Amino acid sequence: MSFPCFWLIFFSFSYVQAANYPKMQTLNTNTEYINPKLPPRTLSTSKKFEGSSDLVHLRYHMGPVLSSTPINIYLIWYGRWPLSQKLLIKDFLNSISPTAAAAKPSVSDWWSTVSLYTDQTGANVSRSMLIAGEYTDNNYSHGNQLTRLSVQQVIASAVKSAPFPIDHKNGIYLILTAQDVTMQDFCRAVCGFHYFTFPSMVGYTLPYAWVGNSAKQCPEVCAYPFAIPGYMGGGGPGALKPPNGDVGVDGMVSVIGHELAELSSNPLVNAWYAGEDPTAPTEIGDLCEGLYGTGGGGGYIGQVMKDKEGRTFNLYGKSGRRFLVQWIWSPELKACAGPNAMD
Ligand SMILES: *[C@@H]1O[C@H](CO)[C@@H](O)[C@H](O)[C@H]1NC(C)=O
Ligand SMILES: *[C@@H]1O[C@H](CO)[C@@H](O)[C@H](O)[C@H]1NC(C)=O
Repeated sequence: MSFPCFWLIFFSFSYVQAANYPKMQTLNTNTEYINPKLPPRTLSTSKKFEGSSDLVHLRYHMGPVLSSTPINIYLIWYGRWPLSQKLLIKDFLNSISPTAAAAKPSVSDWWSTVSLYTDQTGANVSRSMLIAGEYTDNNYSHGNQLTRLSVQQVIASAVKSAPFPIDHKNGIYLILTAQDVTMQDFCRAVCGFHYFTFPSMVGYTLPYAWVGNSAKQCPEVCAYPFAIPGYMGGGGPGALKPPNGDVGVDGMVSVIGHELAELSSNPLVNAWYAGEDPTAPTEIGDLCEGLYGTGGGGGYIGQVMKDKEGRTFNLYGKSGRRFLVQWIWSPELKACAGPNAMD
């Protein structure tokens, strides 16, 4: 499908803020639709398949999906995390459940594509997610250079410390590393990954995901499109303005969304993925990397929204938050899908 170079629609948007605010108020926001063409991010740009359903053979491999209501998410903050950054990430996670009050298109609508995936019993990926516990290691007690194996020791330390439970029935563990922590393959090959822990290291098989703050290390790779390749320092002209003013963490939000979608539909890496090689599966987030709206692909990120301060987003969350999150492969449409699609 070819798409016109660049176009804008202006429209006026108003919404009534969530009822949990003491005063009801109506906001009038001028929102603009844009479809920017940007240099592609340098990581796995070959994985975009919008609309090309014949090329994608996503298959179910008989393993479980995360179907508990809710999915309990345990957060591990590794390294020094400013409170404002923690709140931003938690607002995103707390926006996933359908009970989160938000304007449309919402984060919860976005997650409804993930909940189309089922296991062999017909159970869907859960629509609700709850932050069930948090653990902070601001002493960098496993050093500031982590590997795919040592990250499991971080989880082991967290689950051994009360009151962090071992929740192998309904739990997932999300390790978020601060901007001064390096991770094996970070920037070069990955912005985040998910896997499960080994009983020999943690005592249990627990599904987990890791996502790092790339603000200092490689924003043009992992905080794309808020930083783009080819400019000094990453955030030069052409990069889009992040919705919450934090290049690194606004960039992490989309990577967290990507990893949670894959972790939920493929927690033990034996459920939903494409490709023949289970050691390098192509999963429901990989298929839509870099795509945020209708008309994405070939250097376009797709139609997204821009507020009057020029900040780019495609989803609303709770507490009036806005986020820019990549689309997810839909098993129904056999294409990438998101609630901000223009039909
Ligand atoms: C569960 O998945 C099936 C198959 O994709 C879908 O038709 C149904 O709408 C899903 N239910 C929910 C609650 O998402
Ligand atoms: C971190 O270091 C401080 C100061 O050395 C110490 O008081 C605290 O107990 C340590 N916390 C952990 C979780 O190791």
